[in-house]
Amino acid sequence: MIKLSYDIKNYRKDLTDLINPNDTVIELGCHVGGTTKLFSKQCKVVAVDNSPEAVEIMNNLDDVLFISGDVRLHDVLAEVFKIIQKCDVLAIDLGGGYHPDTVFKVFYIWSSTFKPKHTVIRNRGILEFFNSASGSDEDYQTAEGYLESYHDSGIPPQIKEFDLWTPSLDK
Ligand SMILES: C[S@@+](CC[C@H](N)C(=O)[O-])C[C@H]1O[C@@H](n2cnc3c(N)ncnc32)[C@H](O)[C@@H]1O
Repeated sequence: MIKLSYDIKNYRKDLTDLINPNDTVIELGCHVGGTTKLFSKQCKVVAVDNSPEAVEIMNNLDDVLFISGDVRLHDVLAEVFKIIQKCDVLAIDLGGGYHPDTVFKVFYIWSSTFKPKHTVIRNRGILEFFNSASGSDEDYQTAEGYLESYHDSGIPPQIKEFDLWTPSLDK
């Protein structure tokens, strides 16, 4: 299942509804763990954020493996992949108003790699698009937390578009 929201209360509720005890959760954009703490006691959690504010607080959270890094970077994805190769739930909150194109790309790459049962995304632009678009009769959908149209070829290669589309990205 893929769940979309903008209101952080809905994002947190979607996650707590979908997460089961002992699940493996990857959380992208954990900040200082406001959401992480809701499930970290019962799950294995790998949390990633690039904010300096997150480092000390997240490193002191029990039961959470925190990685300080930019989730757009291939090296950060590869670092997490060395630790776990699959997750049950992928949570993505890079900021509700964050560029929807980037969030979609992060969703696409991370979900294709870790094949979650569920993905929960907090992003206003993606939600607005979803609520406003109407499709044709072609029945393409997924019950999983990743897109079926991704052809299974392992960890995706470096995405050059990240360099092209996000000029502020430092390497
Ligand atoms: C709204 S906050 C997340 C709030 C958190 N999910 C919660 O429930 O308390 C968004 C977070 O995404 C992080 N972020 C934004 N872009 C990122 C990126 N490219 N890589 C890693 N973290 C990013 C920011 O540093 C920030 O901490």
